[in-house]
Amino acid sequence: MKLFLAPIQGLTIAYYRNIYADLFGGIDAYYAPFITTTSMRKTNSSLFKDVLPSVNDDTLTVVPQLLGNNGADFRFFASTIAKMGYNEINWNIGCPYPTVTKKKKGSGIMPYPDMIKAVLDEACLDDSYQVSVKMRLGLHDLEEGMEVIELLNDYPLKGVIIHGRTGDQKYEGTVNLEGFEKLYAACNHKVTYNGDIFTYDDFKKISNQFPSIDNFMLGRGALRDPFLPSIIKNNGVYEKNEIEKIKEFHDSVFNYYESILSGDKHLCDKMKEFWIYLSIHLDSSGKLFKKFKKCKTKKGYLDVVDRVFDSTITWRKSL
Ligand SMILES: Cc1cc2nc3c(=O)[nH]c(=O)nc-3n(C[C@H](O)[C@H](O)[C@H](O)COP(=O)(O)O)c2cc1C
Repeated sequence: MKLFLAPIQGLTIAYYRNIYADLFGGIDAYYAPFITTTSMRKTNSSLFKDVLPSVNDDTLTVVPQLLGNNGADFRFFASTIAKMGYNEINWNIGCPYPTVTKKKKGSGIMPYPDMIKAVLDEACLDDSYQVSVKMRLGLHDLEEGMEVIELLNDYPLKGVIIHGRTGDQKYEGTVNLEGFEKLYAACNHKVTYNGDIFTYDDFKKISNQFPSIDNFMLGRGALRDPFLPSIIKNNGVYEKNEIEKIKEFHDSVFNYYESILSGDKHLCDKMKEFWIYLSIHLDSSGKLFKKFKKCKTKKGYLDVVDRVFDSTITWRKSL
């Protein structure tokens, strides 16, 4: 069984992936947040900064991801990245955000199989990398996803990651497991399950329902509880000294952002993104996150952090 960390734009950047692996482990491959393809043809562009071998721990398997709808652009970006030592390049056709979908990118391309075909015809010509695809059930409905899966079956893909919601649903409601099952059954490629695995029990439920699936991608659940991948790998056994590790994780991420961001506001805003997830297992009521949301200065922020870790706080008390 393999576990993958889902890409989360703005958070699971190289520094985060490296420290996550170092402190928590349990992840077999880290999918990097998307890089948007463009018509630029510079191999030293800053667009590649998150996948440069110099910033990524070379003991980790990292899979770069591209977002776009033009085959020639995809091929240029993918072959440039492949030369850095990567052999799998993931194509994001699942992003649900309207700013992306209205440009027929992310899940916005799913209703247009001819566009998907044109991208893959070009992308799959280069054998210096293998393409994998991360998708949803469709933009609007499952029929779109079915058509896409049948099309994907014609290409030599490394695998397909399926999130069981439509783009229209964004993250609302629950995952549609029946819809996932239909696409899974129709797909001839290796399928990775993605969606709403927040606890070990969620994982057990999904893996019991789909016993032949052995690849799972964890997103928000692994950010909320960074121990979750290793708990799953250890069949539900929890580690000791969790809160100390969480503090070390926080301090390391904070020090990193402090070193690259200028101004307290930027720093506080970035750390708020981090706490959206991490606060859940410290305080399910949302009060803790509200405290972080109010922070405007570094001093104010660090005062809240001190109070959080100085109190008799327990990890995963919301479960
Ligand atoms: C804030 C945010 C940013 C995301 N960024 C990306 C991204 O860059 N690429 C991608 O394929 N998916 C992205 N996703 C989707 C996740 O990778 C994942 O598919 C989604 O969270 C569902 O999995 P989960 O239920 O385990 O969280 C993002 C999700 C969120 C909430």
